[in-house]
Amino acid sequence: MKRKIASLFAGIGGIDLGFEHAGAESIWANEIDKYCAITFTANHPKTKLIVDDICNIKGKDIPQIDILTGGFPCQPFSIAGYRKGFEDDRGNMFFQIMRIIDEMGKNNNKPRIIFLENVKNLKTHDNGNTFKVIKEMLEKSGYYVTEKVLNTCEYGDIPQNRERIFIIGFLKKKDFNNFSWNNIPKIKLENKINRVVNWDSDEDKKYQYGPEKKCYLLLKENITEKNTIYQYRRVYVRANKAGVCPTLTANMGMGGHNVPLILTNHDIIRKLTPRECLLLQGFPKDFIIPEELCDSRIYKQAGNAVSVGVIERVAKEILNAMED
Ligand SMILES: C[S@@+](CC[C@H](N)C(=O)[O-])C[C@H]1O[C@@H](n2cnc3c(N)ncnc32)[C@H](O)[C@@H]1O
Repeated sequence: MKRKIASLFAGIGGIDLGFEHAGAESIWANEIDKYCAITFTANHPKTKLIVDDICNIKGKDIPQIDILTGGFPCQPFSIAGYRKGFEDDRGNMFFQIMRIIDEMGKNNNKPRIIFLENVKNLKTHDNGNTFKVIKEMLEKSGYYVTEKVLNTCEYGDIPQNRERIFIIGFLKKKDFNNFSWNNIPKIKLENKINRVVNWDSDEDKKYQYGPEKKCYLLLKENITEKNTIYQYRRVYVRANKAGVCPTLTANMGMGGHNVPLILTNHDIIRKLTPRECLLLQGFPKDFIIPEELCDSRIYKQAGNAVSVGVIERVAKEILNAMED
């Protein structure tokens, strides 16, 4: 029987997809953003999605599951808030996860596995105190915890430089002992940037930067090489020489900043399309982009998502560790 997962902060379901590719079944999810919900539902029609603030979710709302996931927003929080207890810090998303886990425990549905994802800096934030609190709270709740920072281009066979921390809590010592990061070694990047980005295609005019754009001269002067991804940062342009795309961000597509740019084989400067950005996060070619959503929404959703290939590899190791 397939292991069942529920996702908090589900976004467009990158974590769900990775777990599904690994053999699990996504049965329940929560997300506050109604536009993410449209994309999520189009691609996960069988998963029950609750579109609401996590603060309104109760542990008893979540059906019987094996794994609870949460790619929670990176919100720094203070030790002072922690000392007061999460009752006093309702706005903090990590504390909301802990509240839900505890409520699920009271309902005999404590997740056997907790899988969390966040930015790499979570580990060093506030001299390591933020991460210490997260680990301590999970341990206090009965979990054996392990974590590692993985880069998408080293572990997911996806040409994007994206370092993220993955934190896993195991309720059973046996599962924890069975799990090893060594079973998820670095892999060679076979899926080269040329397979994902189409330099032959100039795409629609709306993706192009011609002389009518204010920044055109700056771009033209700096964007000179093919097979390179560039980033435009308000006053300068940076070439990414490593043959991978720089980290996609949630604010790309808002006002044109941070959307990676390329020079096509016909010497047209254009930004990556929303589809290319999703491919650079490891979403499959047939991932549905709902027609009613404008490009800026999809850029944001892609930048906020996780790299599916990395999740799939970690998820496989978790599922193996749970085998009896
Ligand atoms: C970093 S993204 C997670 C991406 C997702 N895990 C994936 O696999 O694609 C964080 C998500 O949390 C959602 N979020 C933020 N605040 C929330 C809240 N109060 N309740 C529920 N979801 C929230 C955001 O809308 C966003 O989609």
